[in-house]
Amino acid sequence: MKRILLLLAAMLLAVTAADARKAPKKKAYVHETVAIPEVQPRVIAIETDNTALILQVDRKGVVRTRHYGAKLGRSEDFLNFNDKAFKDIDPGSLAYPSSGGRYTGSSALSVLYPDGTRNTEIYYLSHEVAGNKTTIHLKDYVTELKVDLVYESFPKEDVIVIHSEIVNGGKKPVSLTDYASSSMTLNARKYFLTHFHGTWAEEMQVDREVLGHGIKVLESRRGVQTSQCGNPSFLLSLDTAEWSETKGEVVAGALEWSGNWKISFERPESGYLRINAGINPYASVWSLAAGERFVTPGMVWTWSDEGAGKASRNLHRWARNSQLYAGAQITPTLLNNWEGTYFSFNTKMLLDIIDDAASMGLEMFVLDDGWFAKDYPRNDDKAGLGDWELNTDKLPEGIDYIASHAHNKGLKFGIWIEPEMVNPESNLAKAHPEWIVQSPGREMEQIRNQWILDLSNPEVQDFVYGVFDRTMSLSDKIDYIKWDCNRSVTSFGSTYLGTEQDRFFIGYIQGLYKVLDRVRAKYPDTIIQCCSSGGARVDYGQLKYFNEVWASDNSDGDSRVLIQYGTSLVYPACIMGSHVSIVPNHQTGNITPLKFRFDLASTGRLGMELQPKDLTAQERVLADRCIKSYKQYRDLVFKGDLYRLASPYEGDDYALMYVSEDKSRAVVFAFCLKFRNRDKAAPVYKLQGLDTSRSYKVTELNVDKSCWWGSGKSFGGDFLSSGGFNPKLSKPHDSAVFLLETE
Ligand code: GLA
Repeated sequence: MKRILLLLAAMLLAVTAADARKAPKKKAYVHETVAIPEVQPRVIAIETDNTALILQVDRKGVVRTRHYGAKLGRSEDFLNFNDKAFKDIDPGSLAYPSSGGRYTGSSALSVLYPDGTRNTEIYYLSHEVAGNKTTIHLKDYVTELKVDLVYESFPKEDVIVIHSEIVNGGKKPVSLTDYASSSMTLNARKYFLTHFHGTWAEEMQVDREVLGHGIKVLESRRGVQTSQCGNPSFLLSLDTAEWSETKGEVVAGALEWSGNWKISFERPESGYLRINAGINPYASVWSLAAGERFVTPGMVWTWSDEGAGKASRNLHRWARNSQLYAGAQITPTLLNNWEGTYFSFNTKMLLDIIDDAASMGLEMFVLDDGWFAKDYPRNDDKAGLGDWELNTDKLPEGIDYIASHAHNKGLKFGIWIEPEMVNPESNLAKAHPEWIVQSPGREMEQIRNQWILDLSNPEVQDFVYGVFDRTMSLSDKIDYIKWDCNRSVTSFGSTYLGTEQDRFFIGYIQGLYKVLDRVRAKYPDTIIQCCSSGGARVDYGQLKYFNEVWASDNSDGDSRVLIQYGTSLVYPACIMGSHVSIVPNHQTGNITPLKFRFDLASTGRLGMELQPKDLTAQERVLADRCIKSYKQYRDLVFKGDLYRLASPYEGDDYALMYVSEDKSRAVVFAFCLKFRNRDKAAPVYKLQGLDTSRSYKVTELNVDKSCWWGSGKSFGGDFLSSGGFNPKLSKPHDSAVFLLETE
């Protein structure tokens, strides 16, 4: 047996040797390397009044983020900075990490090239500074892919907005599979992340956690609703495992995008923290034609060394000064009829509500859902969306008649639309089934009995713009539009995009922005609210176009404490629509005192959402009083700096204050959330933001008898900031509003 095996092996060797003699000679394979030109090492500093983002460019042209924090006297000290990290694997400090080379972490940029390769390595080409904008040009020398990193600094607000632009410098299309707006490297001993979660009627709930190793991803894949289950924003406290309003380093970020988003936090073995933030590439491989440029949305960054409070104030100031559609323009108090009437109203009822709103001192009436569609009248949420003509059976006198009545009473007039949506029960759904978001052969899922129109299609963009335009033409007295969006995307797909379905999610939002650009070009002065089943569209992308958001369908006082506290961490009070509704609350069944609801709603843009006739005479008196006092201090809410004094997540109360920029006036709000035993001392609020060398007269509003012993008197700013201010709030739902004025 052994001999047979040996014989077979010898025969096999002989055959192989003969084949080798016959085979033509192959040219020896040589691996050629494209040379990367050396560059002059340098430091690029992006600075604001108090912060600096410092980038280091090495001889090879690798650009790394070396510092984001306090402004330094000499940023060039970072020129030869060496982190001693293991050189075989990049430790993760690249300014814009791409898949390829020595980099093995989560990528800001990943590209699939036409030859099937996936390596991208980008190197410094040049950079230029124009005003507050610095652009760094990078290039992959093998594939000719180019990346511009654009840093815009807002000096006074200590904000830096970063985005990337990716250019296909090759001759064939490439596929972008990751395309973050910005990548940030931080280096601390601990990273304590605050982010948001939620659901309908429970938006902007706060989650806090110490980041361990591995990757933490925050994201949305809901297409058109950015913020119902999360928010494209976060705050990160450094070197601590605790939240502090006033102490320590905090980096905060927020994305200017209204579609799918993704923010990842990765702690590799180096100890760094890498944050990649941008559009979510989920189901969105972006094909970039030769020569084409892909521009990502801005990622907003701020840094504070005075805790989270200052980080929030930086974002708020930046938003008011540079991002919000109309800055901190004071928008009117209003009465919205939704919870007062739902779909069941007629002209007489609306006129009566307007009269009541006027008599309470409110400044606008907003007619909500239910005024439109004839063949499929919108008398509930099952029909009519898409058919944007007046329901003359319901409102035979017309919109202009109602708007004129409001104007005659001294009120502005607003009206609701939901132009991106269609009910199956509508003429539009029957006329244009191809406009509906859908995937061939699959059921078109309904949410709230409605489908969503495909805004990646230019015809649909025209239609949606037309809805706004035609609604505005119903009367020349329309001052306000409530733009709603009551569902997210499911079973996604577009008949318009054909085989380019990966363009759907991004194309939809680009289409939405095109429509909003047109709307704003024609209607620059109309106040527009961004509503989405409450607060499902709260992001800095929308806020370039909208004046305000509807923070939640839930106006219950207890729920609103958490929703409004969470919103305040990232977004300024001037955008936050907050309404007083009736009790028991329609969403939660909860009963809270009217004063508590008023005081809380007054920390944002105050409104009411109820049938005024449901209020007792006594409640009407209180309402009048609260609305009147709100007008006295609302400039502080809209334009002042916010200081959070007590967090509902940490104690039994919630307190906050707004201070005018010149520190001459302030308003303080305090809310008791839990019974405080009579043996306990009154809670002490150390007021912030005051001028400690001046004295302030403190007046409690909305009450006859104050809950603070010092109300009506004057006190030094230092006394008020050092524990002297201790209003007695001891029963759940006790609340107080104090106005502080220098004398
Ligand atoms: C959404 C909004 C509400 C109201 C209804 C109308 O739920 O969030 O405020 O406008 O739609 O259908």
